[in-house]
Amino acid sequence: MLHFYRLICALGASAATAKGVEMQLKAPVSCQVDVTRGCLVGASNRYVKTLGDLRGLYEDAAAFKELVGRSGADSVAYEVTDFKPSSAAGDMIFGVTRMLPGRVGREFFLTRGHIHANANRPEIYYGEAGRGVMLLESPEGEIRTIEIAPRTVCYVPPYWIHRSVNVGTQDLVMTFAYPADSGQDYSIIEDSAGMKARVVDDGAGGWRLAENVNYLARSDERVRGVYASAN
Ligand code: NI
Repeated sequence: MLHFYRLICALGASAATAKGVEMQLKAPVSCQVDVTRGCLVGASNRYVKTLGDLRGLYEDAAAFKELVGRSGADSVAYEVTDFKPSSAAGDMIFGVTRMLPGRVGREFFLTRGHIHANANRPEIYYGEAGRGVMLLESPEGEIRTIEIAPRTVCYVPPYWIHRSVNVGTQDLVMTFAYPADSGQDYSIIEDSAGMKARVVDDGAGGWRLAENVNYLARSDERVRGVYASAN
């Protein structure tokens, strides 16, 4: 089949002609996961969320205020380094997230959480270090949890709201990958005053779920809207 295929390399990209179809090929890339530092070496993008960015997410406002007073609103809560080749359908984004350990009152440190804007896009998380829980909620409000330890692969199926929680005593480091046109919708959690369950200290070195008493169930119309939001 090679005679159907002609590769011309220029500036790291390739122009290929296969069966008469012209297309631009991206150059293959590798990045190293630095587990100790909790980052992707060679990432094209980095952002951090500070404690101040997570205001309002925790149940215990007094404990949050006390923590901010002690650590500072600018202290890093989690960091994401990722490689985004594009945002085109069919492409993929991958990266590393590092979450610091800690609690606000009885509740373990968490990420803001989201559903994918194109809600039928899945995601993979791979545990590199630490102990985590992926907290998942269906549009109808069903809660599921997946424990993530080193070498655990966690599959977040299409349509599930997801949030990471660090239930350990050290940094939680995970590699992730998701379709490049997934997008993130944070409002679905905000509009329900959080996810239906919280991940809290069980008092015995582990974690358990607790009810979010402020939770507002989604209307049938909103649920239908989630399932209709994929393209
Ligand atoms: Ni996601």
